[in-house]
Amino acid sequence: MIPVTKPFLPNIEEYNKFVKDIWERQWLTNNGPLVNELELKLKEYLDLPHVLFLGNGTIAIQIAIKALGLKGDIITTPFSYVATTSSIVWENCNPVFVDIDPDTLNINHRLIEAAITPETTGILATHVYGNPCDIDAIEFIAKKHNLKVIYDAAHCFGTKYKGKSAFAYGDIATTSFHATKVFHTTEGAQYFLKTQNWLK
Ligand SMILES: Cc1ncc(COP(=O)(O)O)c(C=O)c1O
Repeated sequence: MIPVTKPFLPNIEEYNKFVKDIWERQWLTNNGPLVNELELKLKEYLDLPHVLFLGNGTIAIQIAIKALGLKGDIITTPFSYVATTSSIVWENCNPVFVDIDPDTLNINHRLIEAAITPETTGILATHVYGNPCDIDAIEFIAKKHNLKVIYDAAHCFGTKYKGKSAFAYGDIATTSFHATKVFHTTEGAQYFLKTQNWLK
């Protein structure tokens, strides 16, 4: 069999050292030391102001929608994993699809303004296959129309835009650490905030 992708697995002895420490600590959930260490290391490595660890990439998108208080219509892409759209629906908002650019497969920013109505509160765009959207163009439109921007950056570990991690853009960027991703924890997600205002 020739695998299309193959998840990275660490050296089993190295991994077992961590497992042994977990057994000794008997601390399996709720902000354990390994989660905190990973959050801090990623924050430094990716040079981000805030990083939060959650259960998976789907819940990260849903919490982002909730945290930003989005209501009504959210402009999004029809070409993504199902969680991008299902999160909008689960949060009682309406997905409004804007077609993709055939060259990048990302949402076509030239078509976004025509889809904005008084009901629109945000844009949820996916950076498909690690290629960043036209972030400058989307930010310009969002500012002009007072919209929030969430990036589903599940494919983007290591992707840079203008020298910064793709996770640094938008009001919130989310990613997935599912086993199929470039960087994975077998399951889990991160949630990258540009501002921490909603925490106050
Ligand atoms: C673009 C995109 N968004 C969201 C998700 C959801 O992530 P998770 O599987 O961690 O819930 C995925 C994962 O496959 C994805 O590819």
